[in-house]
Amino acid sequence: MKKKIIIDCDVGVDDALALILAFHSPELEIGAVTGVNGNVSLEQVFANIQKVLFLIQPQHHPFIARGADRPLKGIPTYAHSVHGEDGLGGVKIDLKKEEKWWHLFSGPAHELITEMARQHPDELTLIAIGPLTNLALALQKDLPGMKKLKELVIMGGAVRTQGNITPHAEFNIFVDPLAAQMVLASGLPITLVPLDVTHRVFLSSRLIEERIKPLSNPFGRFVTEATGYSLTSQRFRRGSEVFHLHDPLAVAVAIDPDLVRKERLSILVEIEEGERYGQTFEVAEEEASAAHKLDVCLGVNSEKFLELFLSRLGA
Ligand code: RIB
Ligand code: CA
Repeated sequence: MKKKIIIDCDVGVDDALALILAFHSPELEIGAVTGVNGNVSLEQVFANIQKVLFLIQPQHHPFIARGADRPLKGIPTYAHSVHGEDGLGGVKIDLKKEEKWWHLFSGPAHELITEMARQHPDELTLIAIGPLTNLALALQKDLPGMKKLKELVIMGGAVRTQGNITPHAEFNIFVDPLAAQMVLASGLPITLVPLDVTHRVFLSSRLIEERIKPLSNPFGRFVTEATGYSLTSQRFRRGSEVFHLHDPLAVAVAIDPDLVRKERLSILVEIEEGERYGQTFEVAEEEASAAHKLDVCLGVNSEKFLELFLSRLGA
């Protein structure tokens, strides 16, 4: 039985790699891909979702929908330095108007999410790999619908490690901490995939040279260009020695939960402006209602994940 999946994303480069992994995995059936403001603007995210689906050419066409173009409160924070101005590192993908590898949902993302949850009660896994604004809107507008989701796998947070957008906060949570607090406190069955594990899975120049460059399919060029890998300097965008696979790990956890070691923790989100804005932190059991308890991934079998990821790229 395939796992029925919805992916909520802010395509960005690692989101694109997560979509490639998901659609190349026989264990999953992706029913919908929804976009949210995050790495780049919502309109750019939505265009990128279509570009990546055009690259993948999925046999089973997913529904796609636009979601929130800003956080519940405050202004957008983008990550152009990591993902490039267009969110895909400037990779050229010319869509052919006549080729549609998706079904366009006319309503907003949060409606598609709860409509599908109602159509497939207790069957759907929602994988969230961007800011959580769409999920918070879905909870506000149709909580009973969201409660019909089987499980949620969320890439976000930094629990026992440093943040990546500030010393304390991880990007997806930092963009919309209010939404994150609502989702993490919802009482829904959540597996959190924080930087504690995603910082341990990354592409290196050795993997690009030995496993990605030799690929004869379009994904080899896409990964090399989208990550900004330079064949001369053997570095990624911004001169980085590695390219973290945050979002692909969240998809992999939905494919094979044994890849990670989890602890059941009570997690709160800092929503007050200040140095710790957007921080996700542990609290003692008695300090938080049961609703805050999540399965938090704190260990990962990095080698096993990388082999899964590379093999599904065709590497
Ligand atoms: O902190 C990493 C997360 O922020 C990833 O989802 C990446 O795509 C960005 O959205
Ligand atoms: Ca993302």
